[in-house]
Amino acid sequence: MELLQNDLLLRAARGEKTERVPVWMMRQAGRILAEYRAVREKAGSFIQLATTPELAAEVTIQPVDLLGVDAAIIFSDILVVPEAMGLPYEMEEKRGPVFPKVVKSMADIDQLRIADPEADLGYVLNAIRIVKKELNGRVPLIGFAGAPFTIFCYMTEGKGSKTFSVAKKALYADPEFSHKLLQKITDSTILYLKAQIAAGANLVQIFDSWAGILSPTQYREYSLPYIKQICDAITEVPVTVFAKGAFFARKEIGELSCEVVGLDWNMDIEESRQLIPTKTLQGNLDPCVLYSSFNQIEKEVRKMLDAFGNQRYIANLGHGVYPDTDPDKVRCFINAVKSY
Ligand code: CP3
Repeated sequence: MELLQNDLLLRAARGEKTERVPVWMMRQAGRILAEYRAVREKAGSFIQLATTPELAAEVTIQPVDLLGVDAAIIFSDILVVPEAMGLPYEMEEKRGPVFPKVVKSMADIDQLRIADPEADLGYVLNAIRIVKKELNGRVPLIGFAGAPFTIFCYMTEGKGSKTFSVAKKALYADPEFSHKLLQKITDSTILYLKAQIAAGANLVQIFDSWAGILSPTQYREYSLPYIKQICDAITEVPVTVFAKGAFFARKEIGELSCEVVGLDWNMDIEESRQLIPTKTLQGNLDPCVLYSSFNQIEKEVRKMLDAFGNQRYIANLGHGVYPDTDPDKVRCFINAVKSY
């Protein structure tokens, strides 16, 4: 067994007693730190950075050193899975990710492969191995993947969207196509997460960023069953499910074989505790609170911690930190949790 100097996150995830609340931030690696932008500059592009294990490892560890978070999250992206299946992406400045080719037909699905983690995603696994060595047990490392439905959105739509109406149309028009693609993504994701764990990830988080665009009925048919397969398959380390916007599915998510449920800021804390009585909760400060004054941030953090309580809880934002957030405001958030 690995000995960690700071295992607050893992103890909280497993429902064990913690002397203080652990804290980290979604999207902490990258975006907000000048030190990140310097490394990204050196790499030349986001994809270059993400596929160069030494540099990916460096920006993974930056928030631990510079912000004092209680966990590192491996620097990568959820879109490396479609790429490993045979559907490459580009990262356009300002516009975000774009897939030059999208999946439209059964024949397109047959063209895709189930990702082989060592062969197709070895650069992520190598980055994890370097991070583990360099962290030397200081804090746990979080691995991650997109939920199959969120990955399905990008593979069918080809780019970001407010509505993902192309992806949703496929669900209504062609359930057979949709289930077939979702299953292929799920099979790839399970192998990938298991490989991340074998390489050293101490906990894995599933990001269902677009859960909130589905109706409860569609969520039950097209997202939950695939997240369930992943949760059932991952028995090695704790699993966190973060389904942004899926307030309507909290009870069912709470019944999955995961250890932690992530909440966004629209989800009432007391109500969530009642709906998910047996799991650790993570979240859920509005990222926009970090635009307010130091005093206001401390006040909002105290309010949040009063509501969650200090056990079976991991402090975080309700979604990723916004790129234009002042790092000193981030430090204020982290220190306010630590000194609660
Ligand atoms: O959390 C971390 O710090 C680890 C790294 C991480 C990235 N992306 C790096 C990244 C993680 C966990 C992700 C997850 C991710 N990627 C999600 C799920 C989480 C969420 O925010 O909902 C989604 C939907 C994506 C897809 C994606 N990648 C988009 C839409 C974009 C463009 C806009 C944006 O969010 O910045 C990316 C690019 C991306 N992924 C960047 C980073 C640091 C910015 C690119 C750059 O630095 O040039």
